[in-house]
Amino acid sequence: MKIILVGASGTIGNAVGQALSERHEILRVGRSGGDIRADIADPDALRAMFRTAAPYDAVVCAAGLAAFGELDRLTDEEFQLGLSSKLMGQVNLVRLGLSGITDAGSFTLTSGVLSQEPIPGSSAISMVNAGVEAFVRAAAWRCRAGCASTWCRRRGFAKRSRPWDGTHRRVCRPRPLRRHMWTAWKAG
Ligand SMILES: NC(=O)c1ccc[n+]([C@@H]2O[C@H](COP(=O)([O-])OP(=O)(O)OC[C@H]3O[C@@H](n4cnc5c(N)ncnc54)[C@H](OP(=O)(O)O)[C@@H]3O)[C@@H](O)[C@H]2O)c1
Repeated sequence: MKIILVGASGTIGNAVGQALSERHEILRVGRSGGDIRADIADPDALRAMFRTAAPYDAVVCAAGLAAFGELDRLTDEEFQLGLSSKLMGQVNLVRLGLSGITDAGSFTLTSGVLSQEPIPGSSAISMVNAGVEAFVRAAAWRCRAGCASTWCRRRGFAKRSRPWDGTHRRVCRPRPLRRHMWTAWKAG
């Protein structure tokens, strides 16, 4: 498969790239390095990236910025950073990437455990993480029958089916990295 890996030089992206590169072609993406340079907060850069890379079988995102800080101290710009980068950056990866993805291709986005287990100072990050998760749930239902979404969970893999509309959801969350990864498949 040809896989676009955004955030390939990071802690998670590097591990994902190593795990996938033996069996797949990886196009590494980052703002400052990689096969393609693009900022996910810039929709025009994403359009150009997808035009260059198409067709591709999967898009995996392990990138996205959000600010940490006390609720009464976070600035407008710090809230906007998370909205533009981690939330809308990943939403736009799906929106703008749909046209070039192959049948049965997949998008994998990254949120974080702070969506469900907030700590002091995490209000902006918890907000965008929860937004990413809600987006994937909704975007997956929007796909044609046969699409699915995945979320990584600590003890293996839970699978839930909705036979009435032909869709399935699978969930897994690897705890050591304390993040969630969500995947939506495009129906073939
Ligand atoms: N590590 C954890 O334990 C953990 C826990 C929960 C959630 N997460 C989430 O997982 C994601 C990755 O975390 P990480 O720890 O692996 O981060 P990281 O080590 O800081 O790496 C981030 C990667 O993304 C790229 N990047 C950052 N902003 C970008 C942008 N706007 N457009 C394109 N590429 C961008 C960086 O490269 P350039 O600088 O070259 O762009 C780098 O390759 C983040 O969304 C983070 O919130 C991580």
